[in-house]
Amino acid sequence: NLFVYQTVSTCWCAATVTPVLGMVAARWKHSLPDLTYDYGALEPHINAEIMQLHHSKHHATYVNNLNVTEEKYQEALAKGDVTAQVSLQPALRFNGGGHINHTIFWTNLSPNGGGEPQGELAAAINRDFGSFQALKDKMSAATVAVQGSGWGWLGFDKESGKLRITACPNQDPLQGTTGLVPLLGIDVWEHAYYLQYKNVRPDYVKAIWNVINWENVSERLQAAKK
Ligand SMILES: [Fe+2]
Repeated sequence: NLFVYQTVSTCWCAATVTPVLGMVAARWKHSLPDLTYDYGALEPHINAEIMQLHHSKHHATYVNNLNVTEEKYQEALAKGDVTAQVSLQPALRFNGGGHINHTIFWTNLSPNGGGEPQGELAAAINRDFGSFQALKDKMSAATVAVQGSGWGWLGFDKESGKLRITACPNQDPLQGTTGLVPLLGIDVWEHAYYLQYKNVRPDYVKAIWNVINWENVSERLQAAKK
């Protein structure tokens, strides 16, 4: 389960023989995950045009560029070219992060979402933030305050066993850059809201609570605790 929640969708595409290394190197290719709801299903909170472009264009571009980057990285590995490996790392962080983040994001949303978290998640929120409203206020503030493009996150700190709110710039993936396990992400790149909310990011962040899939967030917490 942990694997399912913390990796991104992949398909086993080809195994190529790498004579230099004398071994069979597995080549993973990432693919754009399907949404489990229609592009218009989150209206009026997030409109269909945003969802279509966000998923089929923006996320797809991260997937394509991640595959290209990994291919180059594999060539650099095969040649033992450490300089090339290091120079590819920003592209890996950006496109790999973009794929990881959006893959989580789609499942964090649901046309049947909104309302309040239940059970163990609700208890953890009350314990660590005082109330659900306090979590919403704190996470909204941290998310709206992201400078430029980035993400607001609710994450799980495995060491302390506590929930944490933080923000990441660009497409930095939460776990890869902070160690926190991602439970809920709010994308505040302009591509996520501008066509509907223009420059008023706070209105978008306020509206998104109406479509949060708390069951998915709960499942991620359960998986993170294992
Ligand atoms: Fe995005």
